[in-house]
Amino acid sequence: MEAIAEVAQEVMSLILGSRCENCGFGYRHRDSSGLRKWCLRCIDVYNRRQQLSEYQIGKKIMELVEPLYYEATIETLEQDIQDKLSELKPGQDVFMFGPIGTGKTHGMAAQIRKYVCEGYLCERINFDSFCVKVRSTFAPAAKETAWELTEELKNVDKLFIDDLGLRSNPESQFVYDTFYDILNKRQERILPTFISSNKNIAQLGQTFDARIASRLHTALVIEMKGKDRRIAGANYE
Ligand SMILES: Nc1ncnc2c1ncn2[C@@H]1O[C@H](COP(=O)(O)OP(=O)(O)O)[C@@H](O)[C@H]1O
Ligand SMILES: [Mg+2]
Ligand SMILES: [Zn+2]
Repeated sequence: MEAIAEVAQEVMSLILGSRCENCGFGYRHRDSSGLRKWCLRCIDVYNRRQQLSEYQIGKKIMELVEPLYYEATIETLEQDIQDKLSELKPGQDVFMFGPIGTGKTHGMAAQIRKYVCEGYLCERINFDSFCVKVRSTFAPAAKETAWELTEELKNVDKLFIDDLGLRSNPESQFVYDTFYDILNKRQERILPTFISSNKNIAQLGQTFDARIASRLHTALVIEMKGKDRRIAGANYE
């Protein structure tokens, strides 16, 4: 009887606006005190943010970002990039592309810092390292199965993948399928993936993988322009 009452209540809440008042797409969480205004993911992020110390923030950023990019903050990005990022819809992916040295990794580091400070769980992986990890799951003595590897990446609040499609030799179909599976699942869960590449989406479709490229058409696309900052910053005199 109680189960029926619970189901009825769920149905009622679905009809009477059951969406999270914070993010607008998650479903309001129900606990012993009743129906909450926010979804469980938003409640988690909020609680995490309240408990985060400066030390923990610094430690997490050190884990995710290489020392060269510690100083990267949103304010250091070009104004047009900041404006673009402010248009980002909940759950929308971000695709940053441009030649080497135009600040893609810096841009990602800035966003990682912002989201870590806000209490989101973030993960960052270079696409090449991802490929190595996927391949290593084939080894008989593998510590991690492909399922364990991908499960975490499918569920983290914000996932950052740097340098997609950088190498000229093609990856195995299994690597593409595994990556597609992660991207697709994250889109179904309305969890954003931040991707950087030296190729645009059309080029990725031709030389990398057409299905992955087609998944990126809904992303917020940011073109990184300008000279190679590494060369521009160097003093050869
Ligand atoms: N907005 C920025 N402000 C200051 N330094 C930057 C900025 N963008 C990039 N850089 C610096 O320029 C260099 C190249 O940037 P990087 O992000 O590594 O380029 P990419 O990943 O596109 O190859 C790095 O040394 C980085 O620290
Ligand atoms: Mg880079
Ligand atoms: Zn929510």
